[in-house]
Amino acid sequence: MIHFQHVTKTYKGSWKALDDVTLQIAKGEFVFLTGPSGAGKSTLLKMIYMDERPDALRGGQVLVSFGSENVYDSRQTRDAEIQRFRRMLGIVFQDFKLLDDRDVFENIAFALRVTGHRSSDIRARVFELMALTGISHRRNAFPHTLSGGERQRVAIARAMANDPLLLVADEPTGNLDPENARRVFDILRKINERGTTVVMATHNPELYGSSPFRRLILDRGRLAAKDYI
Ligand SMILES: Nc1ncnc2c1ncn2[C@@H]1O[C@H](COP(=O)(O)OP(=O)(O)OP(=O)(O)O)[C@@H](O)[C@H]1O
Ligand SMILES: [Mg+2]
Repeated sequence: MIHFQHVTKTYKGSWKALDDVTLQIAKGEFVFLTGPSGAGKSTLLKMIYMDERPDALRGGQVLVSFGSENVYDSRQTRDAEIQRFRRMLGIVFQDFKLLDDRDVFENIAFALRVTGHRSSDIRARVFELMALTGISHRRNAFPHTLSGGERQRVAIARAMANDPLLLVADEPTGNLDPENARRVFDILRKINERGTTVVMATHNPELYGSSPFRRLILDRGRLAAKDYI
C-alpha cells in the first residue's frame, strides 16, 4: 500500500530530515514508527499524506496505492488531486488540530458534512465513533474543556469518520498517562482489526515493546534496521 523508494527530504536551510529511506507497508498492517525527537518521524508521515514531497533532485519517490487503479505518486499527484486522496486517509496530527469553536460531536461530524452525507447518517456514524473511542459522554463539550486524552480520542474519532483505508497517527499517545495511552492504542488496534492499515509514530516503549507489530526505527533521517523493512 505504501512504498518509499530512496526517499530523501531536505528542508530549506537544514540537513536531511529523511535520508535515502526505502520501505514498504502492506495493506492491513499495523506499523510503529519510532526514533528520537528530530529523527524524521513526522516528516515521514507527512510524506505518506503528501503534505511534504521528496526533494525534486534525487529525492526518490513515494507511492500510496489503494488498488491497482488508484495509485498516488509523489512525483505526479497534483495539488488538486490531494483532497480526493486525503479523503481515503485518516490523519491524527501531533497537535490534534481540533476546531475550537465546535463541540465534540461537530468536530467528528465535520469531515462527513464536507463529503455530503445525510444528516441522519451523520448522526448515527458520529455516535458509533464516539462509542468506539469512549467519548460519548463529552459530546457537547468544546475542545478547550477536554483533557489531553479526551482530545486525542476526538482526533482519532474524527480521523475514522470516513472509514479510511489508511490511518496515519503522529504520536497519538504523546502526553498521556500509561492507562490512557494504552486505551488509545487499544482503539487503534481495534480499528486495524477491522481492516484499516495503521502507521503510528510513538515514543512509548510500553506500547511497541509488548506488541507483535513491526517497528520502523528512524535515526537522524535514516532507517536504523534494514531487516525491519
Ligand atoms: N518545516 C520545517 N522546516 C525546516 N526544518 C524542519 C521542518 N520540519 C521539520 N524540520 C526538521 O527536520 C527534522 C525532522 O523533524 P520531524 O518533525 O520529522 O522529527 P520527529 O521525529 O517527528 O520529532 P519529534 O519526535 O520531536 O516529533 C528536525 O531536525 C526538524 O528540525
Ligand atoms: Mg514529530
